[in-house]
Amino acid sequence: MIERSSLLAAIRVRLAESPVVALLGARQVGKTTLAQQVAAAWAGPAVVLDLERADVREAMRVTPEKLLGEGKGLVIVDEVQRAPEVFERLRPLCDAPGREAVFLLLGSASWDLIRGVSESLAGRIQLVDVPGLSLPESGGAEQDRLWFRGGFPRAYLAASGAAWERWMEGFTRTFLERDIPGLGSRVAPDALGRFWRMLAHFHGQTWNAAELARSMDVSVTAVNHYRDLLAGTYMVRVLPPWFENLGKRLVKSPKVYLRDSGILHHLLGLGGMLELQTHPRLGASWEGFALEQTLIAQGEREAYFYGTQRGAELDLLLLRRGLRWGFEFKCSEAPRTTRSMQVALEDLRLEHLWVIYPGALRYALAERITALPLREIHTLELTRPPAAGTGGLAGARPEA
Ligand SMILES: Nc1ncnc2c1ncn2[C@@H]1O[C@H](COP(=O)(O)OP(=O)(O)O)[C@@H](O)[C@H]1O
Ligand SMILES: [Mg+2]
Repeated sequence: MIERSSLLAAIRVRLAESPVVALLGARQVGKTTLAQQVAAAWAGPAVVLDLERADVREAMRVTPEKLLGEGKGLVIVDEVQRAPEVFERLRPLCDAPGREAVFLLLGSASWDLIRGVSESLAGRIQLVDVPGLSLPESGGAEQDRLWFRGGFPRAYLAASGAAWERWMEGFTRTFLERDIPGLGSRVAPDALGRFWRMLAHFHGQTWNAAELARSMDVSVTAVNHYRDLLAGTYMVRVLPPWFENLGKRLVKSPKVYLRDSGILHHLLGLGGMLELQTHPRLGASWEGFALEQTLIAQGEREAYFYGTQRGAELDLLLLRRGLRWGFEFKCSEAPRTTRSMQVALEDLRLEHLWVIYPGALRYALAERITALPLREIHTLELTRPPAAGTGGLAGARPEA
């Protein structure tokens, strides 16, 4: 069992603060396992209501107050997107005086896909994203394995390459044939599957609905809907463009990535690392993998990419406490600075630009540009270092 101690800690902290905590993430990413670990260590009773089960759904439909309200201690509601009415039912329970229960909801679809949820529990709920395995969780030494196989625990831990492939095959089929219809979607599994594979070839490119619609021979409305479905189920990341008036023509479409590198490789038909290394999408694959790991380590709020029509580009811009940090993801043994990096540094007035690469050595590339191994991304603190001459020397600090 791979330990996910920082996620567990985050869940426990939030359960102590709010009557409802929701764990959100893709199918099979490990939500139920985390909830079981929280329950096992819970001081007091804990119950699980699994809405994947038809009988539990039926009980929830006819006597929800009884089912939820009898709970004391920790009440876990699994696959909550199967019965979104739970959210309305929870509201009075949260507000009841002498409330004895805390609710841990697990969902495999984002808030946007579960209608009316945010309003009914506003102010009472905290969300915790459950991503695939991170490099520190996987042990860090196995970077290539995590990159190729992706972060679903069962895929990452598969006993062989063939077992990995079988897991991927089963996962993608179940997702299309059971999970998507389970959300109430009428999209044909074949069409969505075709779109998913097509998107793998466009991984890391700016979204162009017209082009995709043309190559699939469907409407623009349809491809936009497919994209939203895959984004809402944590399969696809839509990274918005940064926009400000810089007197330049900026790219205004988002960039689209498959969030899990293993699914990307599976949909590209790759069998192993050797095949990836000679594949034309190698650079894009690294970019997506390093992007997701960076967002796990540094948080995914206020994340953008930057692109100008003339080709200058920054893979990731993070805004943190009013400061701007840049990231470039380079699948190279020894990355160098480029003209485009200098342009981004100046245009965006970055504090610093980190060039994230697969190697092991951290080195300065230029003023405010540093090459950083991906495995160090979680050690990065995005705060401004003290200005020269004022750092830490008692008495040397100028008067405020
Ligand atoms: N930390 C982990 N280490 C090893 N295997 C895990 C871990 N988390 C989940 N798994 C395995 O991955 C599979 C999916 O996990 P599960 O918790 O059911 O995911 P979810 O509830 O998000 O669909 C299960 O077979 C589970 O045993
Ligand atoms: Mg589950």
